[in-house]
Amino acid sequence: MKRALITGITGQDGSYLADHLLDLGYQVWGVVRQTSAGESPALARLRDRVEVIQGDLLDQGSLSRAVRQSRPDEVYNLAAQSFVGRSWNEPVHTLEATGMGAVRLFEAVRDHAPEARVYQASSSEMYGYAAAGPVDATGPFLPHSPYGVAKVMAHHSAAVYRRSHGLHVSCGILFNHESPRRGPHFVTRKVCRGAALAALGHSEPLALGNLEARRDWGWAPDYVRAMHLLLQHPEPLDMMVATGVSHSVRDLARVAYAAVGLHWEDHVRLDQAQLRPAEIPNLTGDPTAAAELLGWRPEVDFGEMIRRMVLAELERLTPAGLPRGAPPPRVDAPPPH
Ligand code: NAP
Ligand code: GDD
Repeated sequence: MKRALITGITGQDGSYLADHLLDLGYQVWGVVRQTSAGESPALARLRDRVEVIQGDLLDQGSLSRAVRQSRPDEVYNLAAQSFVGRSWNEPVHTLEATGMGAVRLFEAVRDHAPEARVYQASSSEMYGYAAAGPVDATGPFLPHSPYGVAKVMAHHSAAVYRRSHGLHVSCGILFNHESPRRGPHFVTRKVCRGAALAALGHSEPLALGNLEARRDWGWAPDYVRAMHLLLQHPEPLDMMVATGVSHSVRDLARVAYAAVGLHWEDHVRLDQAQLRPAEIPNLTGDPTAAAELLGWRPEVDFGEMIRRMVLAELERLTPAGLPRGAPPPRVDAPPPH
């Protein structure tokens, strides 16, 4: 039985990856940080199927213990401060967690499980301003946000551990991927929740920022399959994972509200406060290498994904979720931590 250690197991990708690896017969360990809010629903769902180890990206000792205890064949580093918008307000924390956190984990693997294969969650945000021109898995990387800088730091550090210390570290450069388990502050989940609320008769308009931004949005369960496939490749690789098709935030709103028979223009307002200090107008990836080298193909397209997400929000909100006359939950609530 193979053994996998996942950081970020309570997040969107971590929870789907745990499901996927358990289905494949893996024994799964998850690094979980203790918060004053108590156990998250994501952890409660996984607790009886995975081994939980307390740890934090900010704490070297806890990561070293996690690697020692789990004796992993595969390590998936998915933990991060992952919200790009927040990274301008908390650049130091973002660099510490998302950038240095990865280095701490590589150190732990180097010391305690040097034969393990490591997956680093790199991001299309690393391309930043370079995305206006041709890019591939080697770059160029010109990040526009503190989050992008932190991911570039982790990405280049992975290459150092690969070349200097012989670790088998692969970096998946993933473009945006979404699901009903997405955090509430990301735009797909926010819009799908807004559409569900509007369908239930709530009249407060949804406040959105840049409607013209285009992203290559895929289905998260498809993307965790790619993470696992990447680590099965005999050589460590850096690889783009994407659908190759982009849509604008405006398209997203149109499709989500249309899924409940509404016109998005009647329910959305522009809000300057949602704009970012800098923006990448278009991030579109190229899935060719993932198809050729890993045999990976996305199975759920954009329209189907958004319909599934709107349906999931409707299921969350009804029937007992919203007492009559209660104010609707804020869909633009700040990140939970
Ligand atoms: P997510 O839902 O925000 O999950 C982040 C996870 O990291 C959570 O489990 C969170 O734990 C954990 N975490 C945050 N800070 C931590 C710390 N200091 N110590 C330990 N754990 C910590 O993110 P995701 O969408 O699943 O993304 C997974 C990874 O892929 C992230 O590294 C993200 O940056 C990267 N990525 C995501 C996408 C995408 O479109 N989803 C695309 C490219 C790359 P709590 O539950 O305690 O908060
Ligand atoms: N969150 C949010 N809220 N984004 C909005 C809004 C809004 O009200 N209005 C417009 N947008 C635009 C953002 O400006 C951005 O261009 C796009 O919608 C997507 O924003 P997010 O869903 O917050 O995701 P992201 O692209 O910034 O980052 C996600 O994808 C990266 C990969 O490219 C995250 O998952 C990162 O962790 C990941 O690395």
